[in-house]
Parts: sequence; C-alpha cells; structure tokens
Amino acid sequence: MNSTAKGAFVREMFARIAPRYDLTNRMMTGGLDERWRRRAIKLLAPPPHARILDLCCGTGDLVFGLLRSDPTLEVTGIDFCRPMLDRAEARAPKAARGNAQFLEGDVMAMPFPDEAFDGATMGFSLRNVVDVDATLREILRVLRPGARFVNLDVSKAPNKRFKQFFDLYFYRVVPVLGGIVGGSREAYRYLPNSLIHHPNAPELRERFTRAGFVDAGYLPLVGGTIAIHYGRRP
Ligand SMILES: C[S@@+](CC[C@H](N)C(=O)[O-])C[C@H]1O[C@@H](n2cnc3c(N)ncnc32)[C@H](O)[C@@H]1O
Repeated sequence: MNSTAKGAFVREMFARIAPRYDLTNRMMTGGLDERWRRRAIKLLAPPPHARILDLCCGTGDLVFGLLRSDPTLEVTGIDFCRPMLDRAEARAPKAARGNAQFLEGDVMAMPFPDEAFDGATMGFSLRNVVDVDATLREILRVLRPGARFVNLDVSKAPNKRFKQFFDLYFYRVVPVLGGIVGGSREAYRYLPNSLIHHPNAPELRERFTRAGFVDAGYLPLVGGTIAIHYGRRP
C-alpha cells in the first residue's frame, strides 16, 4: 500500500468506528486510558495560558483532559477524519468551547506557522501515520524553542511473559470486542497490527532524538505495554 492509500485507508477506518470509538476505548482499557492521558498531561506540565497542539485529536479526549487540568490553556486539536472531529465538537463542554479549537488536517503537513505552539500532545496515533520521522520533524517545526512534545501510545512489553499475555489480549480479544462494541472487527484487527512495525520504546526514543528533540525519554506503564515518550525542542 503506498502512502496516499494508507492515509485514505486509516481515515476511512476511523470514520467507520467514530460513533462508538469512546465507548470501545473505555471498555477495552477498563477506563485506564483516561488515567494514562492524565499522566501524559502531567508530563507535559504546560504553564498557564500556553498554546497547546493535540495531534490526531480524534474525538478530543486529550484536548478536554488538557482543559480540565488547566482551563486557561488554549488547545487546538488537529485530525484528518471529519467524523472523529464532529464527535469532538459535539462533546466539547460549554465551558471548554472558547479555549478548544478543532481543525481538519494531516499532521504530516500542518497549516501552522513555525514555532506556533508552547507544547504538543499525541494519543494512540503515532503508529498510524504514514511516516513517523517526517511527523516528528513536522511537530518540531511548529513548537517554539524549549517546548515539549508528549506522545502516549501502546508499546511492546520488554518482559516475555507479560508480552505473551498482552499479545493474546491485543491481537485476539481486541478484534472480537471491536467487532461487537466498536462495530468493525476489521478496524480493530488493523489497529493492534499497526504496532507490529512500530519501533519499540527505546527505538522510538532514539527516533525522537534523531528527529531533533532533546532530553528525549519515556515512561513505561502497565509493564511497558503503554509508553509515554517525551522530548523538547532545543
Ligand atoms: C486511535 S485514534 C486516537 C484519537 C485520540 N488521540 C485519542 O487519544 O483517543 C487515531 C486518530 O488519528 C487520526 N490520524 C491518523 N493519521 C493521521 C494524520 N496523518 N493526520 C491527522 N490525523 C490522523 C485518525 O483520524 C484518528 O482520529
């Protein structure tokens, strides 16, 4: 599949699962995904009134989480799937509406000037972009010097036993649940599989560094099946 085809495939897949995306997420993680998002936001630690970009914002969980953590922030969510953005806009609590903005666009070529943001987040999405390195460079471009980027995603557990258990859940149970609750078994078969070719946690930290981030590191959670990577624009 070439890169244009992959982008279109991913966009169409998320359009299909958008209506029940939030419910499926909560069920598959037992509600833990919201706790992981709070950890990611804590790691970003944005100062009051900061302009934050949430890449691949989907239905807006990180955008709303950021605004709950500090209502003075100005948060822009960008995503290339219109039905996911429609849900985000519909979910925006009245209080958050003024400070939350949702925009349709591809994170590999964003419609923002250089150094437009004081921080950036991304949740469960880096695996899905066509080119991870190009995306990391594009994120750096829109961050002001000193600003942080925090990326929350599933990862490959280093412990063999843990990995076996996780693989069973992720590759066997998730597609079945995704079919029943999320409405598309095919989509929830693709999503776990997108981890197979994704770098493991230490490799991804390296890719952050190679792209130009400094102080790159990661926080493993749940035995390393979840990782929060971070880095700063020099
Ligand atoms: C698994 S969802 C994650 C949504 C949200 N960040 C969350 O934490 O629940 C992945 C999202 O990435 C979006 N996406 C994937 N590739 C993209 C790209 N190149 N540009 C913009 N959005 C993209 C999809 O449309 C989808 O909404």
